[in-house]
Amino acid sequence: MIALREESEIATLRDANRIVSDTLVTLVEQVRPGVTTRELDAIAEDCIRGAGAVPSFLGYRGYPNSTCISVEDVIVHGIPGDRELREGQIVSMDVGAYYLGYHGDAALTVACGPVDELRRRLMDATDRALSAGVQAARAGNYLVDVSRAVQRVCEQAGFSVVRDFVGHGIGRKMHEDPQVPNFDTGVRGPLLRDGMVLAIEPMVNAGKPGVKVLRDGWTAVTIDGKPSAHFEHSIVVRDGPPEILSATPRLIWGQR
Ligand code: MF3
Ligand code: CO
Repeated sequence: MIALREESEIATLRDANRIVSDTLVTLVEQVRPGVTTRELDAIAEDCIRGAGAVPSFLGYRGYPNSTCISVEDVIVHGIPGDRELREGQIVSMDVGAYYLGYHGDAALTVACGPVDELRRRLMDATDRALSAGVQAARAGNYLVDVSRAVQRVCEQAGFSVVRDFVGHGIGRKMHEDPQVPNFDTGVRGPLLRDGMVLAIEPMVNAGKPGVKVLRDGWTAVTIDGKPSAHFEHSIVVRDGPPEILSATPRLIWGQR
């Protein structure tokens, strides 16, 4: 069952996602060679708690940290630790905040210093794929329209969409119905309606789509070792253009 949110609930979701996007802005400013993923996580936790929220990821199915920081061939769910960022790498940062009973969730990928053409194009395509998916999330469309829009942008750029992880409904719980695949599953899925809240989150590999989860039970890496990017927004389906809850004028992604 997919929830339809009241405007009062959407107002709180807006606040939760504002905390997430403010945290991401702060993280982006801290990305530089030599910074550890643990340092980034600590900064994010301070930001989230400083705003009166609780990190959504911490303790979720035993997850040990407040953020996921996924470097290079790590697709998603990178556990913060001693790893230092190096110039030329890309880093995906995923943040969730629980505020007054509702969750916000968003992610983006940035470069550490100058990066090569492949990584630039990969980040650009994933960001545009998110934007295409967001724009397809309108009342009257079906869920598969979102999935197809995302997939088309990725594959036209010559990259592959990850099948093993999907986006999701979000609200009182971080993961609610429906699942939001980034590829055409062959089923139309539910009709989208005004007030549905979705987290759309393409994960895109420069090479093959295959995923391997490391022995820690979380870290998902590309099988071929090539880099991967991840962008996510939480949005409200509307009768017209969707409302991007996790957008911020201070940093623009998934809005093209
Ligand atoms: N944005 C991711 C998701 O929606 C982050 C979850 S990390 C976890 O699944 F640790 F909380 F699982
Ligand atoms: Co998510």
